[in-house]
Amino acid sequence: MTLRIFPDDRSLARGAAGAIRDLIVSAIDARGVSRVVLAGGGTPAATYRALSGMKLPWEKTAWYFGDERMVPAAHPESNARMARENLFQRLPGAPFRIHTIDGTRTPGEAARAYEGLLRQARTPGTEHRAPLFDLVLLGLGADGHTASLFPDDGALDSNGRWALPVLAPPGHAVRERVTLTVECIHLSRERWFLVSGGGKREILARVLTSNPTPSLPATLLADGATWFVDRAAAGSRE
Ligand code: 6PG
Repeated sequence: MTLRIFPDDRSLARGAAGAIRDLIVSAIDARGVSRVVLAGGGTPAATYRALSGMKLPWEKTAWYFGDERMVPAAHPESNARMARENLFQRLPGAPFRIHTIDGTRTPGEAARAYEGLLRQARTPGTEHRAPLFDLVLLGLGADGHTASLFPDDGALDSNGRWALPVLAPPGHAVRERVTLTVECIHLSRERWFLVSGGGKREILARVLTSNPTPSLPATLLADGATWFVDRAAAGSRE
């Protein structure tokens, strides 16, 4: 587990964006293409804006989503909308290759369709555990969820699936969702968490000091992950 602590949210966004750019460039140098899974929620927005200001071989990068709320793409709660506003529409005409989860279908249909797209993306002939992505970006919820993998939810047992429908706990603005599974997210060369703000200090400390447990889903993806955090979230941790 690697922890990168930045003085504040702005330096976190710049640092994470620079690291994403470097990873994409090296993936393209090595394999001719890069595949990046975007996180939803609010934290990544500043990082996506910083990334949009960088020079990148956009045409050689395929963008995916770690989860989506089952709403139309124009809905304020849509993760695709957040990525569009903070990254894609800031580069008009760039040849983006964006694979969104269709929020207008039923969660089950959308999950099966997205899984089918991912399985088609699999390079033919590669063994079933070969990396599917170069990078999966993840956030951290106050209850320890990540993507839309919520505490003690049945979707934590992937059962061979790469994408599953889930119902977020009461209190979430949009409860019907689709999420990549733990098994699918582990098919990434890199897993990076972006965590910012004093409100995440307690949950970050719990996740970083806990063994893998379904009650804190982020712990199921923490092993080998890199954490990009600001000082407010890190507290006194070095
Ligand atoms: C989502 C995200 C979710 C998010 C966390 C943190 O669709 O809600 O995938 O996992 O990353 O809830 O959200 P904030 O960054 O807004 O705190």
